[in-house]
Amino acid sequence: MPAQIIDGRALSKKIRQRITEESSVLKEKGIIPGLAVILIGDDPASHTYVNNKKKACEECGFYSEIYKLPESTPEADVLELIEVLKSRKEINGILVQSPFPKHISEKKILLAIPPEKDVDAFHPQNVGAIVAGDFDFVPCTPAGVMEMLNEYNIEVSGKHAVVIGRSNIVGKPMSILLLHKHATVTICHSRTKYLADITRQADILVAAVGRLGFVTADMVKPGAVVIDVGMNRKEDGKLAGDVDFNGVSEIAAYITPVPGGVGLMTVAMLLQNTLRAACIQNNIVL
Ligand code: GUN
Repeated sequence: MPAQIIDGRALSKKIRQRITEESSVLKEKGIIPGLAVILIGDDPASHTYVNNKKKACEECGFYSEIYKLPESTPEADVLELIEVLKSRKEINGILVQSPFPKHISEKKILLAIPPEKDVDAFHPQNVGAIVAGDFDFVPCTPAGVMEMLNEYNIEVSGKHAVVIGRSNIVGKPMSILLLHKHATVTICHSRTKYLADITRQADILVAAVGRLGFVTADMVKPGAVVIDVGMNRKEDGKLAGDVDFNGVSEIAAYITPVPGGVGLMTVAMLLQNTLRAACIQNNIVL
């Protein structure tokens, strides 16, 4: 039987509707959640993501400011902009889209964003809080994956979860969130030996590799849950994931499509974090 599709479009819509309702409750109290997004350079994918974030903010009744800065912008100018944004009350969340140009220190930028406005949850204080299991913000992509598992009543406790990829944005926090839900977690990466032997043991397989069609059917255990975090462009310009969808959906129990999967959840979770930031900063419990 072909795998059940985990529908990121439907779930993200449901979450955005809830956020829109909560945002209107805040509005009655005179508060509009505000997000500032900084994008440095010309990366076309980043421009698409940032435009999607802006549109999503508008649809939920949030206030947003988008700063599109040239590739050559000095690091000091970005830090100065963050300094201004951080003291503005109407800005509850600040995000700098990655990847950054080479001359800009990611570490300096992440440290400049105050933890309470760090809606990406990339600041070391927030990373530490996530590891410790007591946090306000969760990185958006792993948070979106956990929402998907929850929505489809997929049991995580006691399961073997295999995450392919060890990035700070996805692989590492994803592994920690699965661990908090009592999975037994294996993290695989580019130096992992006998990768397919490990992935074939996965009850839940998360692919965050960044390589088109990397996970093939022979790497998947029959009945597994397969989550595709990849966002790759095919030769024809169309978006596709890290998982060979046609092959893997023949043997998995559940699978996320690309597009229409995790990517949409990432945006929904950013809105959720921004709403949470606005509530915390204004001492409001919804
Ligand atoms: N680039 C790719 N994903 C993300 C994300 O979740 N946040 C930021 N800031 N940059 C990204």
